Amino acid sequence: MKICCIGAGYVGGPTMAMIANKCHDIEVAVVDLNEERIAAWNSPSLPIYEPGLQEIVEERRGKNLFFSSEVKKYIKDADVIFISVGTPTKSYGIGAGQAAELGYVEGCARMIAEVCEGPKIVIEKSTVPVRTAEVIKSVFTGYDKGHLFEILSNPEFLAEGTAITDLDNPDRVLIGGDSTETGKKAVQTVVDIYNRWVPRENIITTNVWSSELSKLVANAFLAQRVSSINAISAVCEASGADVDEVANAIGKDSRIGPKFLKSSVGFGGSCFQKDILNLVYLCEHFGLADVAEYWHQVIKINEYQRKRFTRKIIHSLYNTLKGKRIAVLGFAFKKDTNDTRESAAIYICRDFIEEGADIAVYDPQVDAEEIKGLTSEKVEVCGSAAEAVAGAHAVLVLTEWDEFKTLDYTALYESMVKPAHIFDGRNILDLAELEKIGFNAFGIGKA
Ligand code: UDX
Ligand code: ADP
Repeated sequence: MKICCIGAGYVGGPTMAMIANKCHDIEVAVVDLNEERIAAWNSPSLPIYEPGLQEIVEERRGKNLFFSSEVKKYIKDADVIFISVGTPTKSYGIGAGQAAELGYVEGCARMIAEVCEGPKIVIEKSTVPVRTAEVIKSVFTGYDKGHLFEILSNPEFLAEGTAITDLDNPDRVLIGGDSTETGKKAVQTVVDIYNRWVPRENIITTNVWSSELSKLVANAFLAQRVSSINAISAVCEASGADVDEVANAIGKDSRIGPKFLKSSVGFGGSCFQKDILNLVYLCEHFGLADVAEYWHQVIKINEYQRKRFTRKIIHSLYNTLKGKRIAVLGFAFKKDTNDTRESAAIYICRDFIEEGADIAVYDPQVDAEEIKGLTSEKVEVCGSAAEAVAGAHAVLVLTEWDEFKTLDYTALYESMVKPAHIFDGRNILDLAELEKIGFNAFGIGKA
């Protein structure tokens, strides 16, 4: 069997590396129009950072795992084609700011229709709004090749930073397909691939629409938990309760559970906001204005939380940041990834630049050029936390990288302008200890 995955990004790359790793007899090709990205996948320094990924890629690359920009060739040869290209939020026209840009998916469908002559299984892997399969189908029909393809939905639930363990041991694999004979056969083919390492009872099969919608709903529920605890963090700060203690107490209820209750400066990442906006757009499309507004609040609270954090810092620094050096530790949207999409750090840095602050950023994985591109050329990107913090008036911890938990804060304090402030946007530090050193220490949801 031959698999081709279109799109060598955060989803396509790790997912295909895992399939190649588990199924040595299947030839897996990951193709992308972006030649630079493909060159990086073929080099010692991969384009994405993900714990455990490098080892798997190095083990299988050149054996049954290939990265190539010869997109058409590999599409033509494949039995199974995954579409794993980006579906960013539309920035223009109808649905701007909410609907998903399906141009890349449509582009893939056209390319597949142009080059394929024999029957194939085409799988949507990218998060797509409900009924995208219909779009793909109608492109195929337009090329008079509708009969050649079975279209399935197989959304990816991996989280960045833990992609390899998530892929190795998924809570579930979801495969949506038509209930026709050929549809069922196609679903079975994909079930058989995952079943090499995922127990059959963890592989769920549904119709295509349920599968597409489940992905949006899963992300909406997860984001909703973060916004819920973040909303409560504001109540804690106002009333003197401690949000971590509240989260711990409610999380012990087995009906609530302990995960995704970490209050923070706001969720980021390529999925949560985009998928909720998609859901909101969908609800509006179906005339469900109240439902749309309900989900929209999850995003509004996220924006509120970022602004609240920014205001708190400005207030603590005597309402002026002009000429003050602010050290930002962490720029990725979460630890163990170099991904910065929708990271709270972007918005916070921009607000502070507007207030006239001098920003110095340190992140263990994010490229300096990317940080500058997302903020300002004037931002100083440092090679260590100590370098960023030296001479600063305040330190902001914006990503929960493990190394930030064990920094020598006494030494950092010594190198700062007094009174020295520290703001923990991820609730990972012991504020009482930091106060003993001399810091004015603030954390989300701490009075
Ligand atoms: C998410 C989903 O978890 C995953 O299933 C889906 O496939 C893609 O979207 P991801 O965006 O990679 O994954 O990371 P996730 O761990 O969900 O974190 C998202 C954001 O929420 C991060 O900014 C994180 O810091 C924040 N978060 C998460 C919190 O602020 N508090 C929490 O308790 C959990
Ligand atoms: P994700 O996080 O969903 O994996 P990314 O943006 O990281 O998304 O990756 C998507 C990749 O898909 C990009 O590298 C982009 O170049 C690639 N891509 C988009 N359209 C096409 C296409 N028609 N053919 C091949 N590759 C494509």
